[in-house]
Amino acid sequence: MRDKLLALKEEALRELGQVQTLPELNDIRVKYMGKKGPLTEILRGMGALSAEERPIIGQVANDVRAAIEEVINSKQARFDKAETEARLAAETIDVTLPGRPAPQGAVHPLSKVIQEIEDIFVGMGYTVEEGPEVEQDYYNFEALNLPKNHPARDMQDSFYITDEVLMRTHTSPVQVRTMQRLKGGVPVKIICPGKVYRRDDDDATHSHQFTQIEGLVVDKHIRMSDLKGTLLQFVQEMFGKQTRIRMRPSFFPFTEPSAEVDVTCMMCSGSGCRVCKQTGWLEILGSGMVHPRVLEMAGYDPQEYSGFAFGMGVERIAMLKYGIDDIRHFYTNDLRFLKQFVHV
Ligand code: PHE
Repeated sequence: MRDKLLALKEEALRELGQVQTLPELNDIRVKYMGKKGPLTEILRGMGALSAEERPIIGQVANDVRAAIEEVINSKQARFDKAETEARLAAETIDVTLPGRPAPQGAVHPLSKVIQEIEDIFVGMGYTVEEGPEVEQDYYNFEALNLPKNHPARDMQDSFYITDEVLMRTHTSPVQVRTMQRLKGGVPVKIICPGKVYRRDDDDATHSHQFTQIEGLVVDKHIRMSDLKGTLLQFVQEMFGKQTRIRMRPSFFPFTEPSAEVDVTCMMCSGSGCRVCKQTGWLEILGSGMVHPRVLEMAGYDPQEYSGFAFGMGVERIAMLKYGIDDIRHFYTNDLRFLKQFVHV
């Protein structure tokens, strides 16, 4: 039996010596180590051996098995290594090749303009406030000196949710909310960007939902010249140093006096064109000195404090700045439109 085992070992090692490929190695592994292989068969015959012989032959059988296994394993390792090397060689990457450009998103033009306006005012010491889009009638109208049944409420057709709650028609309620929160503290110096809602029919220049930026300054000795200087600084940073402004008397219930502010047309530099309807001027915002009643209702003594406020439509400013001819472009998300703002 011992001779048989040793012969088997010789035979297996000889065959292994000739192995060239992994499938050949696998064949030999099955042939010699498998359940139906000769080694198993020999071991099965051990039952017939005497008690003294059995451990000795068992030892030999184990040695034979170990010797064959060792060679198989080392061959296997060599094949594995060769395979890995072949794969690495085949998969090398040429890092000098130019990459494929990944499609890249961009900041929406409206967000861009909001950020730009915020930057300008933050640079002048303003902080940025926010307020709710679903607003109480009190903040949207009443505390802004627009009591119920006031005819000027018709200036802004509203979406009402209940008798007392509506979609805010402007960002001015944030004036009131901020003053109330500061409880008479000064200076108040804020801007507030946000969405506003009006019952308008959508067309090239109207949208039932659009964006405003509100500004409010309250302190001692705030004068109309502060408003004018602030707005001039703003438009020159926004549209260029050559930009001038003019103020036209206007009316808002929450400011007195009130002024509509125009800038020199950036398309024709003021000489008159289609965009400015030959006037040389473009209206960009409403403004005025905070009405004493508004200060009073928000807890500020109008004898001691004064303030100015302004509100502008962001879409309009973006349209003027970038020459966009239809407000609906901002909301329809046509990539051909949006892609033009990737690099501006
Ligand atoms: N809230 C006004 C509007 O929406 C704009 C405005 C704001 C006017 C602040 C004066 C002062 O038309």
